Amino acid sequence: MAAYYVSTPIYYVNDAPHLGHAYTTVAGDVLTRWHRQRGEDVWYLTGTDEHGQKIMRTAEANGVSPQEWCDKLVSEAWKPLWEHLEIANDDFIRTTEPRHTQRVQEFVQDLYDKGEIYKGSYTGPYCVGCEEYKAPGDLLEGDLCPIHKRPVEWLEEDNYFFKLSEYGTRLLEFYEANPDFVQPASARNEVVQFVRSGLQDLSISRSSFDWGIKVPWDDKHVIYVWIDALLNYATAVGYGADQAKFDRIWPANVHLVGKDILRFHAVIWPAMLMAQGLPLPGRVFANGWLMVGGEKMSKSNLTGISPRQLTEHFGVDAYRYYFLRAIPFGQDGSFSWEDFTARYTSELANDFGNLASRVAAMVGKYFDGVLPAGSDESLAGPLREAVEKADRAIGEDLDFSGGLGHIFDFVRKVNLYLSEQEPWKVARDTSPEGQAKLASILYAAAESLRAIAVLLNPVMPATAEKLWLSLGAEEHLGALPAQKVHEAGRWGVLPEGATITKGEILFPRLEG
Ligand code: ME8
Ligand code: MG
Repeated sequence: MAAYYVSTPIYYVNDAPHLGHAYTTVAGDVLTRWHRQRGEDVWYLTGTDEHGQKIMRTAEANGVSPQEWCDKLVSEAWKPLWEHLEIANDDFIRTTEPRHTQRVQEFVQDLYDKGEIYKGSYTGPYCVGCEEYKAPGDLLEGDLCPIHKRPVEWLEEDNYFFKLSEYGTRLLEFYEANPDFVQPASARNEVVQFVRSGLQDLSISRSSFDWGIKVPWDDKHVIYVWIDALLNYATAVGYGADQAKFDRIWPANVHLVGKDILRFHAVIWPAMLMAQGLPLPGRVFANGWLMVGGEKMSKSNLTGISPRQLTEHFGVDAYRYYFLRAIPFGQDGSFSWEDFTARYTSELANDFGNLASRVAAMVGKYFDGVLPAGSDESLAGPLREAVEKADRAIGEDLDFSGGLGHIFDFVRKVNLYLSEQEPWKVARDTSPEGQAKLASILYAAAESLRAIAVLLNPVMPATAEKLWLSLGAEEHLGALPAQKVHEAGRWGVLPEGATITKGEILFPRLEG
């Protein structure tokens, strides 16, 4: 079975990760955890982009070699944050690794041998922040990068060029035949328009500095950092080195990117693959920007809030939940402490956390913590519907906010069910009928929570695990990550007799 392969961008290690990087990486983690729980073979790749002028200059400014700088940032900042955020990536590629650099040289040499690359000279503006050649028409106020709002630099260099201009028609045909290749629709429109307006050949080497992979036939040049970086998606899964692995994993199903780097992924990357005759990825999905004061959040205009400050206050799981729930994936959105607090309290602590603790408390009080049998299946239909909708939204459409909305609609239905059924009143009726009714209500609520734990596991794995254990589900049904999404909607899975314990509070009251 071909693997479901998802990638994040490989991030520049000129600085530590911020909320924006974590946003894309958490989204990919939720998507891949969801697919793993569909029972699919999944491959989730992230990594770091370590060459180019931006990194070189940062290292120089800090008085260390670029390699030392990268090693330090990767081991002290990037990898630890992904571990902290429970990112379950299958691999982490660094572009300074030989498994990457050697294959990049081979790839570029192949294109050169095929006549796809020629020598020329480049004169024009370049933004080191973007590591991107700009068209004069892209600039603001004559010479400012529209993303970094800083003056671009003027390059005049002998470079090697890739014949990108010859791929316009093939790319447009490809977008036409694969309408979902670029998502969301706004991103697709931008890309189609850009390609229609005519493509220029692309400079794929630089000769004025040396922190990069050498052009194999001319060592006065290093390979342009974006050509180097894009190839990570292939080198990391065995391109040119492990054919069996490559065949199993390639091509990517989804490249997750921010919309700042859409053209690289939706135009240049497929053209490079076409030039080499490799299968193209299934989808490039551009997430919107986390904004600060109307601008894209970046290293230079940080909110002053790091991912860890938020996780210290709200916890890792609430962090993973919040950004995906609050901002429709593909649109821009702003983070606010107030909004996070409001959602934490109403959705996580009240709607979900309280439900879990109330049900456990009542099974404890009325049935000594042993789940009774029940026959009320009135929540079975709403559950099935929630599972189907959430699976389509999260698993297919990358509509995380919508998918979480469906799951939480179901959570609220269970709450409504309890407030209508009033088990605390039914409990006073000690007749066999009364007790049977009470059993039925509590079984239905616990069974609903069993399914909710499965559905929320990709998003909030530690919390879902606590719930799973408190329901006594592991003993009867096995480990939570092994539960299949498609089976989550079956009714009557948690067996009578399961030991329900009141675990720790899922979402404790926030401090301060
Ligand atoms: O572009 N909102 O790396 P990078 C949402 N090395 N997402 C954001 C964001 C924000 N404010 N800020 C960053 C590079 N991101 C290249 C990629 S891939 C072959 C090479 C996320 O460190 C988003 O995914 O600048 C964006 O595309 C990425 O971080 C850029 O990270
Ligand atoms: Mg950037």
